Amino acid sequence: MLAPAMDLDMYQHPAVRANLAQVASIGNIVLDAETGELASGLSGQGRMMEPEHILDRVIDFFNSKKEFLGKKVLITLGPTQEALDPVRFLSNHSSGKMGFALAQAFQAAGAEVVVVAGPVALKLEGHGFQVQRVTTATEMYAAAKALHGQMDILVFAAAVADFRPENPASQKIKKQGESLPLQLVPNVDIAFELGKMKREGQIHVGFALETEQEEAHAKAKLVRKNFDLVVLNSATEEGVGFKHDTNQVRIFHKNVEDIQTALLPKLDIARLIVEEVKKAAAWS
Ligand code: PMT
Repeated sequence: MLAPAMDLDMYQHPAVRANLAQVASIGNIVLDAETGELASGLSGQGRMMEPEHILDRVIDFFNSKKEFLGKKVLITLGPTQEALDPVRFLSNHSSGKMGFALAQAFQAAGAEVVVVAGPVALKLEGHGFQVQRVTTATEMYAAAKALHGQMDILVFAAAVADFRPENPASQKIKKQGESLPLQLVPNVDIAFELGKMKREGQIHVGFALETEQEEAHAKAKLVRKNFDLVVLNSATEEGVGFKHDTNQVRIFHKNVEDIQTALLPKLDIARLIVEEVKKAAAWS
């Protein structure tokens, strides 16, 4: 384990980021610097992690039972982008943070993780899991479908655009007239299609992002998309869902008791989801 400490600009310097990524890519765990007052008088990320936080992480590491050793997990994350023309697209606010936290949590539990990521700013590479970057829902489906057969667990954390422009323009659309009618066509529902191919013993975890009748919609998705559990997060509550570093979820199972979490950092939510997957899995 490595816990670096340095000044703000130095910590964000591309050379330092690349070196830390290299250290992580060969199997080390990098404990990120904390944010606060720095020796220079500046304030920002660069403080060495507090010794008690380092101790917590070391204890967590040795206590984690690696119960997913030998298991392969595919995680879709981030948004998709659907082109209107060469310079514009339809998309949504997903940052990929929830999916990234899940990748870290499953990996810490011993799983081999593959991530199929829509366009996100996060640095996903260099954390020891495989990353496939895609842009559109069609590309995300092709990548996930090709991997589906080898996986034990699939987690659909991506916010896939449900529609795409029917005929994206080959040149930049010029401003003409008062309105621009757009004809949209439905995208493939990745979770639904792969749900039809789910084999005995495979676990599918869905997410539901809702603005109203949240429980009813989440439970309907659990059944329709053949999920074993669905993680409901609200699109309207403070600190929950898109972009935040925190989340608060309800988890509805097919076969096990449902749970509700507090508002927690996404990594803690991810660890709880890993626990729930363990309960749902026949092999656990
Ligand atoms: O990325 P963050 O900023 O950290 O935010 C996290 C999140 C809010 C994006 C994430 O927690 C989340 O809720 N992801 C799913 C959002 C969503 O698209 O929900 P949905 O209710 O529309 O879709 C239901 C399920 O079907 C999801 O598992 C989704 O991945 C899947 N789906 C949906 C449409 C589609 N065409 N293909 C799919 O696979």
